Amino acid sequence: MGHVSYVNGHFVPHRQALVHIEDRGFQFADGVYEVCAVRAGRFLDEEGHWSRLKRSLGELAIESPLTAGALRLISRELLRRNRVRDALLYLQVTRGVAPRDHAFPKGARPSVVMTLKHFDFEKAEARAAAGVAVRTLPDLRWARCDIKSVGLLPNVLAKQAAKSAGAFEAWLVDEAGAITEGASSNAWIVSAQGKLVTRHLDQAVLPGITRQTILGVVAAKRLALEERAFSLAEARAAREAFISSATTFVTPVIKIDDAPVGDGRPGEVARALRKAYIAAVAA
Ligand code: PDD
Repeated sequence: MGHVSYVNGHFVPHRQALVHIEDRGFQFADGVYEVCAVRAGRFLDEEGHWSRLKRSLGELAIESPLTAGALRLISRELLRRNRVRDALLYLQVTRGVAPRDHAFPKGARPSVVMTLKHFDFEKAEARAAAGVAVRTLPDLRWARCDIKSVGLLPNVLAKQAAKSAGAFEAWLVDEAGAITEGASSNAWIVSAQGKLVTRHLDQAVLPGITRQTILGVVAAKRLALEERAFSLAEARAAREAFISSATTFVTPVIKIDDAPVGDGRPGEVARALRKAYIAAVAA
């Protein structure tokens, strides 16, 4: 059995996993997605990902064709069929297939696809131990970044620009000069005053599931936290910086553009939160 994916009710060989050319995800980015890490056969932060999926679908008025319970069963079966233990689950739901017309089609059945690909947690661990560089770029995205929409072109362009500049992630800066988040992660700093800061949730950022779990860890540790916008200038002066996501957990940022963060090495708070996050999701 090779690489298997799930498409609209069927488990199929990955190379034959196809959707129609008139799928609205393809034509309009009219759909949402989730990425959930699977480590040693365990789905990390799973409840959070299912509930955010439900919210994203609700915001776009896409009727979920499957319950969270059914999606969970399918994800387990996919894991079993692919015989992997460390992986990323990708799930996408679109409004379905219909003749191209901007307004919602009547009676289209949402498309559901799931893929699983091997993920090297050791490599991610090494990257976190070394720390990563971020590149700042203007935030050119739409006004509903709280929805995990598949419309990711600005994120794609920002990530590529960061990569071309030798950085791992892009940090997006809004018109007021504040860092909203990364191209595919949330952004955090430990300010010059020693306060842990991450942007408050609003329509400018994705409510990260990893972020949410970290906030639980922060509360349990009674660390001082400020959920508010922070500027690029404040980030440049910060003691520490890090990113969070399902694929990076907590990964220290050691360079913003061409300047080191703090002493240019992964910070203590970030390293402690990474450990605590991993312990929390393993529990
Ligand atoms: N991205 N912000 C953006 C814009 C993201 O795309 C992501 C995740 C996050 C972090 O969310 P979470 O902690 O739930 O992963 C924040 C995924 C990993 C992706 O697109 O691949």
